[in-house]
Order: sequence, then structure tokens, then C-alpha cells
Amino acid sequence: MKQPYITLGIETSCDETGAAVYHQEKGLLSNALFSQIDLHKKFGGVVPEVASRSQLEKITPIVRSALELANVSLDEINVIAVTNKPGLPGSLLVGLCFAKAIAFARGTKLIGINHLEGHAFSAFLDHDIPFPHLCITASGGHTSLYLVRGLGAYTVLGQTIDDAAGEAFDKVAKLLELPYPGGPEIEKRAGMVDFEDFFSYPRANPHSIDFSFSGLKTAVLYDLVKQGAYDMKSKTLLNKDDAFKNRVASSLLVCIADIFIQKLRMALKAHPEMKAVTFVGGVACNKYIRERLKTFCKERGLPLFIPAPQFCTDNGAMVAFVGNYKAIQGKFSTLELDILK
Ligand code: KG4
Ligand code: ZN
Repeated sequence: MKQPYITLGIETSCDETGAAVYHQEKGLLSNALFSQIDLHKKFGGVVPEVASRSQLEKITPIVRSALELANVSLDEINVIAVTNKPGLPGSLLVGLCFAKAIAFARGTKLIGINHLEGHAFSAFLDHDIPFPHLCITASGGHTSLYLVRGLGAYTVLGQTIDDAAGEAFDKVAKLLELPYPGGPEIEKRAGMVDFEDFFSYPRANPHSIDFSFSGLKTAVLYDLVKQGAYDMKSKTLLNKDDAFKNRVASSLLVCIADIFIQKLRMALKAHPEMKAVTFVGGVACNKYIRERLKTFCKERGLPLFIPAPQFCTDNGAMVAFVGNYKAIQGKFSTLELDILK
């Protein structure tokens, strides 16, 4: 009888070290994570050198902890799935070299995973989702809208032509001298002024399904300058009033939620056969955007699936899940596997 696949998933594409074990028949057995957020906070963003050094320190203990939590030994692992693109090269290399070393030493099957495919299927970790469906992936590095027809079968309908949604939160937070990562901080402050739209920032091109957040960030900057709240020359925030920051944060959040709904509406118009919508990636932790999307989908009789927060931000579980179905589909990699930025 064929042994079920027991996949070790490894994620090191940016500033999180994740490892998880996924059993073909029993599902997710463990999900271990180390987040470097505290290491990067003082720099106001991810520093690649700091990230890769920390990956190197954490990869062994995190993989060990994933195996222990799953109560599975390395001998029982018959697939190693590892994120090999896209991401920070130094960080990606740590996970890839670690995975290849195990695969080489033990003859274990290896599968390279696209980080974005990991996010796109992360909602399957805690939900059964019908096909075909639409998936909005929004994180610090990527923002895309996919049409998903099956496990691993997806096409890009739209994506950002510049910054990602998470990046817009992070960059505006930096302008406002708020801590990194910006998303949770912006959300907290927006809640203090009841998620009102004070400054009506521009809502992106309504004729294109692609996203663009760089213009929005610039629009916020110019509006701050116009209001005398920011000095371009010295790059300093002049109005440090908390109530003012809350109003900027709230206007930004409402604007970004509107943009997601605008693109989703366009996609559903072109593809009315969709049976569901998923919202994934770090930005999907945002309760305000979740609620807005929920209301929008409910009005259309469409179920909306959002993973639990630990599966929204970077994690090993989504990599192990994709590794499992790729193993079933026979899509293995060779030891020639390399990283791709
Ligand atoms: O998926 P993720 O952990 O890493 C990438 O693949 O980029 O996403 C991180 C991003 C950051 O930009 C962060 O600001 C954003 O997700 N984020 C949020 C929230 N929590 C995290 N954005 C908006 N609201 C949140 N509550
Ligand atoms: Zn990610």
C-alpha cells in the first residue's frame, strides 16, 4: 500500500521563519513560526541582511519544533516543500539550502513552492472552498487578484503595477512616524475615529483591474504637504497630533478597502460564474477590510473565506499544504532547484 505523503513545509522568503508538517490524510499536524518583526522595528522596515542572518539562526530550532509539535520524526517525512520564490535572496537561500541538504542526505523528495501560490491556497488550511473562485492576495510584497479553478490551477486577473497594499500601509505609517509594520497600527488608529473617510484620497483607476498603490502613497504625502503637516525638504512630519494621524490612517484604510471592492466588482462582472471569494495574505488580518468584503459578498450571495490570522501572514503551513497537493500531482523538483527573486 502506498504511504501517505507527510510533508515538511519550510518558509523563509522574508522576515518570518516558518516550518509545518502536513499529513495527506490527517491534514495539518503542526505550524511553528518565528517572526522577526521586533528585529526590524527600529529600522522602520525589513533590513535584508538582518533578515537572512536571523533566518540562519532560527531555521534549525523552528524545523525541530514543527517536527516535535507534529510528533513526527524526520525519518517519517517523505516530502520537503520549500519556498524558492519570490522573496529576499538571502532569506530564500537559507530555507532552500536547508531543504536541499535534507533532501540530498536522506533522499527525500523535494518541491519548490511559489510563495504567492502558498498565500493563494492558505484559506484551504481551515476551510473547504468551492471552485472556481476569486482570490485576493494582499501582503507586504504583493497584491493580486486570481481566478482559481482547482488546486494549483490559477490565473492572474490583476495585480499591482507598483507597490503592494501592505507596502502602502507600511509607507504611510512611516510618514506618520508610526511603528513597523504599519497595517495593524493604521487599523488601530482608524478605529479610534470610527473608520471615517476625512481626506478622500484617490481610488485608483476604475477602468483597470490592476492595482496601483504607489500613487496613493504619493497622494497622501502631497495632501500632508498641502495641509502644512509635512515638510518635503527636511522629510519631517510637522503635525504630530495624534487625532490628525488617526484621521489620515482612517482615510487611507477606507480608501484601500474601496479599491479592493472596486477590483472585486470588476472581476465578478467579467466572471459571474464564481462560487466564492477568498481574501488572504498579511493585509487579510485587517478586520475593517474583512467586514467590508463580507458585506459586499453577502449582498451577492457569495461565501467569503478568510484564513485565521496565523495563516494570513507568512507561515510554513501554507507551504506544506501546497507541497502536499503538488506531491499528489507528482510535481517534484530536482536538487538543481534554485531561488528566483
Ligand atoms: O503576508 P505577510 O506577512 O508578508 C508578506 O508576504 O509581505 O504580510 C505583511 C504585510 C505588512 O505590510 C503589514 O503591514 C500587513 O501585512 N498587515 C496588515 C495588517 N496586519 C499585517 N495590513 C493591514 N491591516 C492589518 N491588520
Ligand atoms: Zn507573504
